[in-house]
Amino acid sequence: MQIAGAVAVVTGAAAGLGEATAQMLAQRGARIAALDLSAPPGTPSETWLPLAANVISPDEVDAAFDTTVRTFGRVDIVVHCAGVAGGFRLIGKQGPVAPERFNHVIDVNLRGTFHVLRAAAWHMSENQRADTENGVIVTTASIAAFEGQQGQLAYSASKAGVTGMTLPAARELAQYGIRCATIAPGAFETALTTDLPTDLQDQLTAAVAHPRRLGRPDEFADLACAVITNEMLNGEVIRLDAGARLAQR
Ligand SMILES: NC(=O)c1ccc[n+]([C@@H]2O[C@H](COP(=O)([O-])OP(=O)(O)OC[C@H]3O[C@@H](n4cnc5c(N)ncnc54)[C@H](O)[C@@H]3O)[C@@H](O)[C@H]2O)c1
Repeated sequence: MQIAGAVAVVTGAAAGLGEATAQMLAQRGARIAALDLSAPPGTPSETWLPLAANVISPDEVDAAFDTTVRTFGRVDIVVHCAGVAGGFRLIGKQGPVAPERFNHVIDVNLRGTFHVLRAAAWHMSENQRADTENGVIVTTASIAAFEGQQGQLAYSASKAGVTGMTLPAARELAQYGIRCATIAPGAFETALTTDLPTDLQDQLTAAVAHPRRLGRPDEFADLACAVITNEMLNGEVIRLDAGARLAQR
């Protein structure tokens, strides 16, 4: 899929990995629907459409995609970055953790991804392009899907769910000329990690093989662009972690 001239929906576009991806896709000539809880900054223009939607709500996600299609005519690319961390322990000082803590992480990260996937697939299936590429969907998991640390039970479950949806989605959507792949990042320099206490940040960096540092959001965006432009990438979960393997805690 060529990026120049394509229409891309980027979720979580107000910050971190989503913001970097929206900017890189815009620099490479895509028109961007930038979606977040509050509409990301920037004046609406012929190439930039800021949208507010909570991915927990299928209605809000559908409405954001409908607005994108009304404004730009179609959707070719989706990079879904909206997500939350939401760590907790099963056993707290007051007793077992409140189920709502688990539900919220699953609602945003797993159900939210499903809501974006279904809207993206539907609108891309309506594309009738001359080449065989009608759409590319990039979702975001985490290496915590594979080696979740203590306290990451809900986060790991939600991200393992995202990795589990990738191949069945790619297989089903193949008939419509739509590809679907997932990036599983290690620790990247965004609010998700820089809000952590310094000792936890140091532990995350210590788990990295080389280069021993947090990833930069533009390095995530760069891989998202590679997935979009490389037709052979489909149904795959790609670790982007500089060889990191998370420790127990
Ligand atoms: N930063 C990392 O180290 C890292 C590592 C692995 C995976 N990830 C994943 O990458 C994705 C992006 O994370 P980030 O580091 O850029 O975090 P971030 O907090 O910087 O950005 C996340 C964005 O998602 C938005 N968002 C949160 N809940 C939302 C909702 N319900 N509806 C719409 N938007 C919502 C936030 O407002 C925010 O702008 C997340 O899915 C995260 O789990 C990040």
